[in-house]
Amino acid sequence: MEFKTIIEPFRIHSVAPLRMTTPGQRQQAVAAAGYNLFALHSDDVMIDLLTDSGTGAMSRDQWAAIQHGDESYAGSPSFEIFRSAVQELFPFKHVIPTHQGRAAEKIIFTAIGGKGRVIPSNTHFDTTRANIEYTGAAAVDLVIAQGRDAASLHPFKGNMDVAALAAFLDEHAGQVPAVFVTITNNSGGGQPVSLENLRQTRDLCRRHGVPLFLDACRFAENAWFIREREPGQHDRTVADIVREMACLADGMTMSAKKDPMGNIGGWLALNDDELAEQCRNLLILTEGFPTYGGLAGRDLEALAQGLKEVVDHDYLRYRIRSTAYLGEALLASGVPVVQPIGGHAVYLDARTLLAHIPPLQYPGQALAVALYEAGGVRGCEIGTVMFGRQADGSERPAALDLVRLAIPRRTYTQSHIDYVIEVCQHVAGIARQLPGYRIVAEPKQLRHFTARFEPLR
Ligand code: F0G
Repeated sequence: MEFKTIIEPFRIHSVAPLRMTTPGQRQQAVAAAGYNLFALHSDDVMIDLLTDSGTGAMSRDQWAAIQHGDESYAGSPSFEIFRSAVQELFPFKHVIPTHQGRAAEKIIFTAIGGKGRVIPSNTHFDTTRANIEYTGAAAVDLVIAQGRDAASLHPFKGNMDVAALAAFLDEHAGQVPAVFVTITNNSGGGQPVSLENLRQTRDLCRRHGVPLFLDACRFAENAWFIREREPGQHDRTVADIVREMACLADGMTMSAKKDPMGNIGGWLALNDDELAEQCRNLLILTEGFPTYGGLAGRDLEALAQGLKEVVDHDYLRYRIRSTAYLGEALLASGVPVVQPIGGHAVYLDARTLLAHIPPLQYPGQALAVALYEAGGVRGCEIGTVMFGRQADGSERPAALDLVRLAIPRRTYTQSHIDYVIEVCQHVAGIARQLPGYRIVAEPKQLRHFTARFEPLR
Protein backbone atom coordinates (compact mmCIF):
# COMPACT_ATOMS: atom_id res chain seq x y z
CA MET A 1 0.00 0.00 0.00
CA GLU A 2 1.44 3.36 -1.00
CA PHE A 3 -0.14 6.31 0.78
CA LYS A 4 -0.66 9.46 -1.23
CA THR A 5 0.16 12.06 1.44
CA ILE A 6 3.76 13.17 1.09
CA ILE A 7 4.88 14.12 4.60
CA GLU A 8 7.66 16.42 5.76
CA PRO A 9 10.70 14.11 6.11
CA PHE A 10 11.64 15.78 9.42
CA ARG A 11 10.07 16.67 12.73
CA ILE A 12 10.32 20.02 14.48
CA HIS A 13 13.32 20.37 16.79
CA SER A 14 13.25 24.03 17.78
CA VAL A 15 10.57 26.64 17.14
CA ALA A 16 10.34 30.40 16.72
CA PRO A 17 7.12 32.26 17.60
CA LEU A 18 4.81 33.85 15.04
CA ARG A 19 3.25 37.05 16.34
CA MET A 20 -0.46 37.10 15.57
CA THR A 21 -1.71 40.47 14.31
CA THR A 22 -5.09 41.92 13.33
CA PRO A 23 -6.03 43.47 9.98
CA GLY A 24 -6.18 46.87 11.72
CA GLN A 25 -2.60 46.53 13.01
CA ARG A 26 -1.40 45.44 9.60
CA GLN A 27 -3.11 48.31 7.78
CA GLN A 28 -1.33 50.70 10.13
CA ALA A 29 2.03 48.96 9.76
CA VAL A 30 1.93 48.91 5.96
CA ALA A 31 0.80 52.55 5.74
CA ALA A 32 3.72 53.52 8.01
CA ALA A 33 6.00 51.50 5.68
CA GLY A 34 4.88 53.60 2.69
CA TYR A 35 3.12 50.49 1.32
CA ASN A 36 6.52 48.92 0.65
CA LEU A 37 6.68 45.43 2.17
CA PHE A 38 10.48 45.59 2.37
CA ALA A 39 10.06 48.41 4.92
CA LEU A 40 7.97 46.31 7.34
CA HIS A 41 9.36 44.98 10.60
CA SER A 42 9.33 41.23 10.14
CA ASP A 43 7.66 40.92 13.56
CA ASP A 44 4.60 42.39 11.86
CA VAL A 45 4.61 39.61 9.24
CA MET A 46 2.91 36.30 9.98
CA ILE A 47 3.86 34.14 6.99
CA ASP A 48 6.97 35.52 5.31
CA LEU A 49 7.19 34.46 1.68
CA LEU A 50 9.34 37.41 0.58
CA THR A 51 12.21 35.08 -0.34
CA ASP A 52 13.54 31.55 0.03
CA SER A 53 17.03 33.01 0.42
CA GLY A 54 18.72 32.49 3.77
CA THR A 55 15.33 32.06 5.44
CA GLY A 56 15.19 28.26 5.68
CA ALA A 57 15.52 26.17 8.85
CA MET A 58 18.87 24.49 9.48
CA SER A 59 18.89 20.89 10.61
CA ARG A 60 20.05 19.47 13.93
CA ASP A 61 23.15 18.20 12.13
CA GLN A 62 23.89 21.62 10.67
CA TRP A 63 23.72 23.20 14.13
CA ALA A 64 26.01 20.44 15.39
CA ALA A 65 28.41 21.13 12.50
CA ILE A 66 28.52 24.79 13.58
CA GLN A 67 30.10 23.66 16.85
CA HIS A 68 32.78 21.97 14.79
CA GLY A 69 33.76 25.21 13.03
CA ASP A 70 37.43 26.17 13.16
CA GLU A 71 38.02 29.90 12.99
CA SER A 72 41.70 29.90 11.95
CA TYR A 73 42.48 32.78 9.62
CA ALA A 74 44.39 30.56 7.20
CA GLY A 75 44.23 26.82 6.48
CA SER A 76 41.12 26.07 8.55
CA PRO A 77 40.04 22.40 8.44
CA SER A 78 36.47 23.73 8.08
CA PHE A 79 37.48 24.93 4.62
CA GLU A 80 38.66 21.43 3.65
CA ILE A 81 35.33 20.00 4.80
CA PHE A 82 33.44 22.65 2.84
CA ARG A 83 35.54 22.23 -0.28
CA SER A 84 35.15 18.46 -0.37
CA ALA A 85 31.37 18.75 0.10
CA VAL A 86 31.24 21.21 -2.82
CA GLN A 87 33.52 19.11 -5.02
CA GLU A 88 31.53 15.95 -4.29
CA LEU A 89 28.68 17.53 -6.28
CA PHE A 90 30.56 20.12 -8.37
CA PRO A 91 33.99 18.70 -9.24
CA PHE A 92 35.59 22.04 -10.18
CA LYS A 93 39.28 22.44 -9.48
CA HIS A 94 39.06 25.75 -7.63
CA VAL A 95 36.45 26.54 -4.96
CA ILE A 96 36.40 30.12 -3.67
CA PRO A 97 34.07 30.86 -0.73
CA THR A 98 32.15 34.16 -0.66
CA HIS A 99 29.64 35.66 1.77
CA GLN A 100 26.77 35.26 -0.69
CA GLY A 101 25.98 34.82 -4.36
CA ARG A 102 26.35 38.41 -5.48
CA ALA A 103 29.88 38.57 -4.03
CA ALA A 104 30.85 35.68 -6.32
CA GLU A 105 29.18 37.55 -9.20
CA LYS A 106 31.02 40.77 -8.38
CA ILE A 107 34.36 38.93 -8.46
CA ILE A 108 33.85 36.94 -11.65
CA PHE A 109 32.41 39.88 -13.60
CA THR A 110 35.17 42.20 -12.40
CA ALA A 111 37.56 39.63 -13.90
CA ILE A 112 35.77 38.89 -17.18
CA GLY A 113 33.37 41.84 -17.74
CA GLY A 114 34.07 45.36 -18.93
CA LYS A 115 33.03 47.73 -21.71
CA GLY A 116 32.33 46.10 -25.06
CA ARG A 117 31.64 42.67 -23.56
CA VAL A 118 28.28 40.91 -23.65
CA ILE A 119 27.19 38.07 -21.37
CA PRO A 120 24.16 35.97 -22.37
CA SER A 121 22.09 33.81 -20.04
CA ASN A 122 18.73 32.06 -20.13
CA THR A 123 17.68 34.84 -17.70
CA HIS A 124 20.05 36.79 -15.49
CA PHE A 125 18.91 37.29 -11.90
CA ASP A 126 18.74 41.01 -11.03
CA THR A 127 21.98 41.09 -8.97
CA THR A 128 23.76 39.20 -11.75
CA ARG A 129 22.58 41.67 -14.36
CA ALA A 130 23.48 44.60 -12.07
CA ASN A 131 27.00 43.25 -11.46
CA ILE A 132 27.56 42.75 -15.20
CA GLU A 133 26.27 46.21 -16.08
CA TYR A 134 28.34 47.79 -13.31
CA THR A 135 31.50 46.73 -15.18
CA GLY A 136 30.22 48.38 -18.39
CA ALA A 137 29.35 45.04 -20.03
CA ALA A 138 25.87 44.14 -21.30
CA ALA A 139 23.63 41.34 -19.97
CA VAL A 140 21.31 39.59 -22.43
CA ASP A 141 18.48 37.11 -21.72
CA LEU A 142 17.93 34.31 -24.27
CA VAL A 143 15.37 32.01 -22.66
CA ILE A 144 13.11 29.94 -24.98
CA ALA A 145 9.87 31.68 -26.05
CA GLN A 146 7.75 29.39 -23.83
CA GLY A 147 9.74 30.69 -20.85
CA ARG A 148 8.20 34.12 -21.40
CA ASP A 149 4.65 32.81 -21.66
CA ALA A 150 3.01 32.53 -18.21
CA ALA A 151 0.51 29.94 -19.48
CA SER A 152 2.86 27.60 -21.40
CA LEU A 153 3.12 24.13 -19.84
CA HIS A 154 6.56 23.32 -21.31
CA PRO A 155 8.37 21.03 -18.80
CA PHE A 156 11.66 22.94 -19.06
CA LYS A 157 10.66 26.57 -19.39
CA GLY A 158 14.08 27.66 -18.14
CA ASN A 159 15.83 26.30 -21.25
CA MET A 160 18.25 28.44 -23.22
CA ASP A 161 17.10 29.28 -26.75
CA VAL A 162 20.02 27.46 -28.38
CA ALA A 163 19.33 28.79 -31.89
CA ALA A 164 19.23 32.36 -30.57
CA LEU A 165 22.46 31.74 -28.63
CA ALA A 166 24.15 30.38 -31.77
CA ALA A 167 23.21 33.51 -33.74
CA PHE A 168 24.28 35.67 -30.79
CA LEU A 169 27.72 34.02 -30.52
CA ASP A 170 28.26 34.46 -34.28
CA GLU A 171 27.22 38.09 -34.18
CA HIS A 172 29.31 38.91 -31.09
CA ALA A 173 32.37 36.76 -31.80
CA GLY A 174 35.25 37.84 -29.55
CA GLN A 175 32.99 39.84 -27.23
CA VAL A 176 31.49 37.05 -25.11
CA PRO A 177 33.73 36.10 -22.13
CA ALA A 178 31.24 33.49 -20.81
CA VAL A 179 27.72 32.13 -21.20
CA PHE A 180 25.62 31.75 -18.04
CA VAL A 181 22.72 29.38 -17.36
CA THR A 182 20.58 29.98 -14.25
CA ILE A 183 19.26 26.75 -12.69
CA THR A 184 16.42 26.91 -11.87
CA ASN A 185 15.47 30.07 -13.75
CA ASN A 186 14.35 32.26 -10.84
CA SER A 187 13.30 35.35 -12.79
CA GLY A 188 11.36 33.13 -15.20
CA GLY A 189 9.25 31.54 -12.44
CA GLY A 190 11.64 28.99 -10.84
CA GLN A 191 11.56 26.92 -14.03
CA PRO A 192 14.09 24.13 -14.69
CA VAL A 193 16.63 23.64 -17.48
CA SER A 194 16.93 20.16 -19.04
CA LEU A 195 20.16 18.17 -19.25
CA GLU A 196 19.68 17.95 -22.99
CA ASN A 197 19.50 21.74 -23.24
CA LEU A 198 22.60 22.11 -21.06
CA ARG A 199 24.44 19.63 -23.32
CA GLN A 200 23.47 21.56 -26.45
CA THR A 201 24.47 24.83 -24.81
CA ARG A 202 27.80 23.33 -23.77
CA ASP A 203 28.48 21.99 -27.31
CA LEU A 204 27.76 25.38 -28.77
CA CYS A 205 30.03 27.11 -26.22
CA ARG A 206 32.80 24.59 -27.02
CA ARG A 207 32.56 25.31 -30.74
CA HIS A 208 32.93 29.02 -30.04
CA GLY A 209 35.64 28.56 -27.40
CA VAL A 210 33.50 30.33 -24.80
CA PRO A 211 33.31 29.01 -21.20
CA LEU A 212 29.94 27.99 -19.76
CA PHE A 213 29.06 28.99 -16.19
CA LEU A 214 26.12 27.93 -14.04
CA ASP A 215 24.30 30.25 -11.66
CA ALA A 216 23.43 27.21 -9.60
CA CYS A 217 21.52 28.47 -6.50
CA ARG A 218 18.67 25.97 -6.94
CA PHE A 219 20.64 23.12 -8.50
CA ALA A 220 19.00 20.33 -6.46
CA GLU A 221 15.48 21.45 -7.34
CA ASN A 222 16.56 21.62 -10.99
CA ALA A 223 18.02 18.11 -10.82
CA TRP A 224 14.84 16.79 -9.22
CA PHE A 225 12.79 18.18 -12.11
CA ILE A 226 15.21 16.50 -14.54
CA ARG A 227 14.76 13.19 -12.72
CA GLU A 228 10.97 13.56 -12.82
CA ARG A 229 10.49 14.99 -16.28
CA GLU A 230 13.39 14.18 -18.61
CA PRO A 231 13.26 10.89 -20.52
CA GLY A 232 15.80 8.34 -19.30
CA GLN A 233 16.67 10.17 -16.04
CA HIS A 234 14.32 8.59 -13.53
CA ASP A 235 16.63 5.84 -12.32
CA ARG A 236 19.50 8.17 -11.46
CA THR A 237 20.25 9.80 -8.12
CA VAL A 238 19.93 13.56 -7.89
CA ALA A 239 23.57 13.76 -6.79
CA ASP A 240 24.58 11.98 -10.00
CA ILE A 241 22.50 14.36 -12.15
CA VAL A 242 24.02 17.35 -10.34
CA ARG A 243 27.53 16.05 -11.08
CA GLU A 244 26.66 15.71 -14.75
CA MET A 245 25.32 19.30 -14.85
CA ALA A 246 28.54 20.50 -13.21
CA CYS A 247 30.74 18.52 -15.60
CA LEU A 248 29.07 20.22 -18.56
CA ALA A 249 30.21 23.60 -17.23
CA ASP A 250 33.55 25.33 -16.76
CA GLY A 251 32.55 27.13 -13.60
CA MET A 252 29.74 28.31 -11.36
CA THR A 253 28.51 31.03 -9.06
CA MET A 254 26.46 30.03 -6.06
CA SER A 255 24.23 31.60 -3.47
CA ALA A 256 24.45 29.07 -0.64
CA LYS A 257 21.40 30.73 0.95
CA LYS A 258 19.17 28.61 -1.25
CA ASP A 259 19.66 24.88 -1.92
CA PRO A 260 22.80 24.52 0.26
CA MET A 261 20.50 25.29 3.23
CA GLY A 262 22.57 28.11 4.69
CA ASN A 263 21.43 31.36 6.27
CA ILE A 264 24.45 32.98 4.62
CA GLY A 265 27.14 31.90 2.16
CA GLY A 266 28.13 31.42 -1.44
CA TRP A 267 31.00 30.44 -3.68
CA LEU A 268 32.65 30.76 -7.02
CA ALA A 269 34.10 27.57 -8.53
CA LEU A 270 35.98 27.09 -11.77
CA ASN A 271 38.62 25.06 -13.58
CA ASP A 272 40.77 27.77 -15.20
CA ASP A 273 43.96 28.23 -13.10
CA GLU A 274 44.81 31.71 -14.28
CA LEU A 275 41.30 33.06 -13.87
CA ALA A 276 41.06 31.42 -10.45
CA GLU A 277 44.20 33.20 -9.32
CA GLN A 278 42.84 36.52 -10.50
CA CYS A 279 39.56 35.85 -8.67
CA ARG A 280 41.35 34.87 -5.45
CA ASN A 281 43.23 38.15 -5.54
CA LEU A 282 39.95 40.03 -5.90
CA LEU A 283 38.51 37.90 -3.08
CA ILE A 284 41.24 39.04 -0.72
CA LEU A 285 40.43 42.64 -1.59
CA THR A 286 36.78 42.54 -0.50
CA GLU A 287 35.86 39.20 1.07
CA GLY A 288 38.80 37.64 2.87
CA PHE A 289 41.52 35.03 2.76
CA PRO A 290 40.83 32.18 0.29
CA THR A 291 40.18 29.56 2.99
CA TYR A 292 37.25 31.48 4.46
CA GLY A 293 36.19 34.10 1.89
CA GLY A 294 33.41 36.12 3.43
CA LEU A 295 32.42 33.44 5.93
CA ALA A 296 33.18 32.12 9.39
CA GLY A 297 34.54 28.56 9.70
CA ARG A 298 31.25 27.54 11.32
CA ASP A 299 29.29 28.78 8.28
CA LEU A 300 31.47 26.63 6.00
CA GLU A 301 30.68 23.58 8.16
CA ALA A 302 26.92 24.26 8.12
CA LEU A 303 26.99 24.53 4.32
CA ALA A 304 28.95 21.30 3.93
CA GLN A 305 26.26 19.49 5.93
CA GLY A 306 23.44 21.30 4.05
CA LEU A 307 24.87 20.08 0.73
CA LYS A 308 24.53 16.49 1.93
CA GLU A 309 20.92 17.02 3.03
CA VAL A 310 19.59 18.84 -0.02
CA VAL A 311 20.18 16.00 -2.50
CA ASP A 312 18.11 13.60 -0.38
CA HIS A 313 15.22 12.32 -2.48
CA ASP A 314 12.68 12.32 0.36
CA TYR A 315 13.50 15.97 1.03
CA LEU A 316 13.22 16.98 -2.63
CA ARG A 317 9.99 15.03 -3.19
CA TYR A 318 8.47 16.90 -0.22
CA ARG A 319 9.96 20.24 -1.28
CA ILE A 320 8.72 20.21 -4.87
CA ARG A 321 5.37 18.67 -3.88
CA SER A 322 4.72 21.26 -1.18
CA THR A 323 5.31 24.15 -3.61
CA ALA A 324 3.02 22.48 -6.16
CA TYR A 325 0.39 21.95 -3.40
CA LEU A 326 0.09 25.72 -2.94
CA GLY A 327 0.04 26.41 -6.68
CA GLU A 328 -2.51 23.72 -7.51
CA ALA A 329 -4.88 24.81 -4.74
CA LEU A 330 -4.78 28.38 -6.06
CA LEU A 331 -5.36 27.24 -9.64
CA ALA A 332 -8.28 25.07 -8.54
CA SER A 333 -9.91 28.10 -6.92
CA GLY A 334 -9.44 30.22 -10.03
CA VAL A 335 -6.47 32.33 -8.89
CA PRO A 336 -4.21 32.81 -11.93
CA VAL A 337 -0.63 31.56 -11.36
CA VAL A 338 2.40 30.95 -13.58
CA GLN A 339 2.46 27.32 -14.81
CA PRO A 340 3.88 24.79 -14.40
CA ILE A 341 4.54 25.49 -10.71
CA GLY A 342 8.26 26.10 -10.18
CA GLY A 343 10.57 24.73 -7.51
CA HIS A 344 10.88 27.41 -4.86
CA ALA A 345 7.91 29.68 -5.37
CA VAL A 346 4.41 30.22 -6.71
CA TYR A 347 3.99 33.29 -8.90
CA LEU A 348 0.55 34.95 -8.85
CA ASP A 349 -0.47 36.69 -12.07
CA ALA A 350 -1.54 40.07 -10.68
CA ARG A 351 -2.06 41.66 -14.08
CA THR A 352 -4.77 39.12 -14.88
CA LEU A 353 -6.33 39.03 -11.39
CA LEU A 354 -6.38 42.83 -11.05
CA ALA A 355 -7.22 43.58 -14.67
CA HIS A 356 -8.90 46.87 -13.65
CA ILE A 357 -5.51 48.27 -12.49
CA PRO A 358 -3.26 49.39 -15.37
CA PRO A 359 0.40 48.25 -15.18
CA LEU A 360 1.63 51.77 -14.39
CA GLN A 361 -0.58 51.70 -11.28
CA TYR A 362 1.25 48.55 -10.18
CA PRO A 363 -1.21 45.65 -9.90
CA GLY A 364 1.56 43.45 -8.40
CA GLN A 365 2.15 45.95 -5.60
CA ALA A 366 -1.62 46.24 -5.06
CA LEU A 367 -1.93 42.46 -4.72
CA ALA A 368 1.11 42.12 -2.46
CA VAL A 369 -0.21 44.85 -0.12
CA ALA A 370 -3.69 43.28 -0.08
CA LEU A 371 -2.28 39.86 0.87
CA TYR A 372 -0.39 41.46 3.72
CA GLU A 373 -3.31 43.54 4.98
CA ALA A 374 -5.75 40.63 4.79
CA GLY A 375 -3.61 37.86 6.27
CA GLY A 376 -0.13 39.07 7.23
CA VAL A 377 1.32 37.15 4.27
CA ARG A 378 4.35 38.89 2.74
CA GLY A 379 5.13 38.16 -0.93
CA CYS A 380 7.24 40.11 -3.36
CA GLU A 381 6.16 42.18 -6.38
CA ILE A 382 8.00 41.09 -9.50
CA GLY A 383 6.72 43.39 -12.19
CA THR A 384 6.50 47.03 -13.14
CA VAL A 385 7.73 48.32 -9.76
CA MET A 386 10.83 46.13 -10.04
CA PHE A 387 11.55 46.48 -13.77
CA GLY A 388 9.48 49.47 -15.00
CA ARG A 389 12.01 52.30 -14.63
CA GLN A 390 14.26 52.51 -17.71
CA ALA A 391 17.88 53.65 -17.91
CA ASP A 392 16.75 56.82 -19.79
CA GLY A 393 14.43 57.74 -16.91
CA SER A 394 11.20 56.79 -18.66
CA GLU A 395 8.79 54.23 -17.25
CA ARG A 396 7.06 51.37 -19.04
CA PRO A 397 5.14 48.22 -18.06
CA ALA A 398 7.24 45.12 -17.32
CA ALA A 399 6.57 41.98 -19.39
CA LEU A 400 4.43 40.57 -16.54
CA ASP A 401 3.08 41.83 -13.23
CA LEU A 402 3.57 38.99 -10.74
CA VAL A 403 3.65 38.46 -6.99
CA ARG A 404 6.10 35.79 -5.92
CA LEU A 405 5.27 33.65 -2.91
CA ALA A 406 8.68 32.09 -2.21
CA ILE A 407 8.74 29.15 0.18
CA PRO A 408 11.56 29.07 2.74
CA ARG A 409 13.01 25.56 3.07
CA ARG A 410 11.71 23.32 5.91
CA THR A 411 10.13 26.32 7.65
CA TYR A 412 6.34 26.35 7.27
CA THR A 413 3.91 23.47 7.81
CA GLN A 414 1.01 22.43 5.65
CA SER A 415 -1.46 24.34 7.87
CA HIS A 416 0.56 27.52 7.34
CA ILE A 417 0.22 26.93 3.61
CA ASP A 418 -3.51 26.14 3.93
CA TYR A 419 -3.83 29.51 5.64
CA VAL A 420 -1.95 31.22 2.77
CA ILE A 421 -4.35 29.54 0.30
CA GLU A 422 -7.35 30.92 2.23
CA VAL A 423 -5.85 34.41 2.33
CA CYS A 424 -5.23 34.33 -1.44
CA GLN A 425 -8.78 33.10 -2.09
CA HIS A 426 -10.20 35.89 0.05
CA VAL A 427 -8.14 38.56 -1.71
CA ALA A 428 -9.08 37.13 -5.13
CA GLY A 429 -12.74 37.50 -4.05
CA ILE A 430 -12.32 41.24 -3.35
CA ALA A 431 -9.86 41.85 -6.21
CA ARG A 432 -12.19 44.26 -8.06
CA GLN A 433 -12.25 46.59 -5.04
CA LEU A 434 -8.48 46.88 -4.67
CA PRO A 435 -6.91 50.23 -5.55
CA GLY A 436 -3.90 50.87 -7.76
CA TYR A 437 -0.87 52.71 -6.36
CA ARG A 438 1.33 55.63 -7.25
CA ILE A 439 4.95 56.09 -6.27
CA VAL A 440 5.60 59.14 -4.08
CA ALA A 441 9.38 58.67 -3.65
CA GLU A 442 11.92 56.43 -5.35
CA PRO A 443 15.71 56.08 -5.52
CA LYS A 444 17.64 56.14 -8.81
CA GLN A 445 18.30 52.39 -8.87
CA LEU A 446 16.63 49.18 -7.60
CA ARG A 447 13.60 51.20 -6.58
CA HIS A 448 11.53 48.25 -5.41
CA PHE A 449 13.55 48.00 -2.19
CA THR A 450 12.92 51.52 -0.90
CA ALA A 451 10.22 53.30 -2.96
CA ARG A 452 7.22 54.69 -1.07
CA PHE A 453 3.68 54.37 -2.40
CA GLU A 454 0.19 55.78 -1.93
CA PRO A 455 -3.07 53.99 -2.77
CA LEU A 456 -5.17 55.66 -5.50
CA ARG A 457 -8.50 55.48 -3.69
N1 F0G B 1 21.26 34.15 -8.62
C1 F0G B 1 19.98 33.80 -8.43
C2 F0G B 1 19.30 32.93 -9.44
C3 F0G B 1 19.29 34.24 -7.28
O1 F0G B 1 18.03 33.87 -7.11
C4 F0G B 1 19.98 35.05 -6.35
C5 F0G B 1 19.28 35.54 -5.15
C6 F0G B 1 21.31 35.39 -6.58
C7 F0G B 1 21.92 34.92 -7.73
C8 F0G B 1 22.10 36.25 -5.64
O2 F0G B 1 22.43 35.57 -4.50
O3 F0G B 1 21.24 36.83 -2.69
O4 F0G B 1 23.11 35.25 -2.17
O5 F0G B 1 23.58 37.40 -3.26
N2 F0G B 1 18.03 35.51 -5.03
C9 F0G B 1 17.23 35.92 -3.86
C10 F0G B 1 15.77 35.80 -4.18
C11 F0G B 1 17.63 37.22 -3.26
O6 F0G B 1 14.96 36.27 -3.36
O7 F0G B 1 15.42 35.22 -5.20
P1 F0G B 1 22.60 36.30 -3.09
